[in-house]
Amino acid sequence: MSIDGPGSRLAYSEVLAVNGFIVFPEISKDDLVKAASGLGWMAPDWHRIEVRERKHARPNSLSGLYGRGSFPWHTDGAIARDSPRYLMMHCGDADLSEPTEILALKRESSEDIANVMAGTALLVTPDKGSKWFSRALDRGGSRFQARWDTRACTPRSARSAMRLQGLLADIEPTGSVQWAAGTGVIIDNFTALHRRPCVGSPNRILHRRYIYEQD
Ligand SMILES: [Fe+2]
Repeated sequence: MSIDGPGSRLAYSEVLAVNGFIVFPEISKDDLVKAASGLGWMAPDWHRIEVRERKHARPNSLSGLYGRGSFPWHTDGAIARDSPRYLMMHCGDADLSEPTEILALKRESSEDIANVMAGTALLVTPDKGSKWFSRALDRGGSRFQARWDTRACTPRSARSAMRLQGLLADIEPTGSVQWAAGTGVIIDNFTALHRRPCVGSPNRILHRRYIYEQD
């Protein structure tokens, strides 16, 4: 897959919308930035993501809650009204192969989950500021935006919550990313959920940068 060219950028967004992610094996960070540059407004900084034991992580972070254990399905920035559209990730080092798993919600196999998410109202509770309501999947008109993070987005109906948690517990991922040094990935944070299984070794260094929709 070529990196440059306006045609490829359009193709990237189309592939991302359906498959939820694109993997670039052995790519530099600079080339990954080039590949993603047409997708929206790129936040200026890369954030380093390390495997952390629970006691060394921020209390309400995923590492603070789960440590090296498996992280549940989620979208990033679910508590923000302006969630990142895409996650760009680059692997600095990894000596084990625990993947990041992807659940693409536009795939046929995800239809039941997408339908239940679309019918699930969430109470979003940010750390600061007022609570607000959202759907777990907003797919009105041309919009298709998932929002899911059980730490701060609570379904209003216990029945919907149980149904959705049950479906998510049983469903197989639609894709996965096997990390190695130099692997680059773009994940569509609106059309896909992601998660991580237990990580055996702390030696997994990822860098992440968010891309936001432009008005
Ligand atoms: Fe995440």
